[in-house]
Amino acid sequence: MDDHNKTSITALGCINVLARSTDVPNSLEIFNELMEFYPTIKQYIAYSQRGFPRVCPRRNYSFTYGRYLSLNDALENVKNHSILEIGAGFSPRGLNFSENRVYLETDLPEIIEEKRKIIELIRERKGIHNVNHMFNELNILDFDKLRLCGKIIKDKSENPISLVSEGVLMYLEDYEQEKARDDITKFLAEFSQNGYWITPDFSYRNTLSNSNMCLDLREVRTDRKFNDFSTNEAISDFLRQGGLKVEFLSNEKISFSFKDNEMFSLIGPICEPSYYQCAKISLI
Ligand SMILES: C[S@@+](CC[C@H](N)C(=O)[O-])C[C@H]1O[C@@H](n2cnc3c(N)ncnc32)[C@H](O)[C@@H]1O
Repeated sequence: MDDHNKTSITALGCINVLARSTDVPNSLEIFNELMEFYPTIKQYIAYSQRGFPRVCPRRNYSFTYGRYLSLNDALENVKNHSILEIGAGFSPRGLNFSENRVYLETDLPEIIEEKRKIIELIRERKGIHNVNHMFNELNILDFDKLRLCGKIIKDKSENPISLVSEGVLMYLEDYEQEKARDDITKFLAEFSQNGYWITPDFSYRNTLSNSNMCLDLREVRTDRKFNDFSTNEAISDFLRQGGLKVEFLSNEKISFSFKDNEMFSLIGPICEPSYYQCAKISLI
């Protein structure tokens, strides 16, 4: 299996945006814990701030925040479902959406172990006890591990399971995207025929990064080219070939603003909502 660990640094970029520029609950808490015992984040922040044009963080930040909110909104479609999050990184979503459901956060082993420690510290400090919020390692290209995650969730609840992912698919090569798709189809068939895979990742377009130095540099660091889908038809075809169908959810109602509004009001329109529209995917 190819090395995916190099992509994990991008998870630091996402929590950096949410914690420092937005009011997303628990994002600052996670970020502060990372600063304490995960020194790589300091390196990352120094790197991402080195002399980039202001337009770059601006588009990039609105994309990251918009996509976070878009997927949260989409969870309204699966209110009684248990959630398996793929490539959860340091996102606060698990902490913010696990109160009334089983929520299993997964990522590559090193990252998910850091995440578990951080969330336990925050919970301890806030006196929150939640046995339904869990963590497990998962490389999405390893079906045995995916199946294990399904069993962990089913041991806790008989509710349908939906998978969610944010900022993962575009780091996979064509053959890896196909394997992920096929394994998710197998997962839904085995564990939850009325479950979904919900993700804004299919809507990402490389045109977003073409003029964006931050993202281009990130490709260099991860050794991976962003791998996008150029049209909704291409997405539907890709999914149909794997036995899946797709509905694109409207995210027109999402509105957001940043703490540092001055920075974001300087130049042109922010990144279009179509770049982080969620796909709600199910078995055919
Ligand atoms: C851009 S970050 C997004 C993190 C988080 N979803 C967020 O939005 O804050 C990409 C994440 O995908 C994870 N990842 C990369 N390849 C993966 C794979 N093959 N299986 C599972 N996770 C993977 C990385 O470790 C990283 O945490």
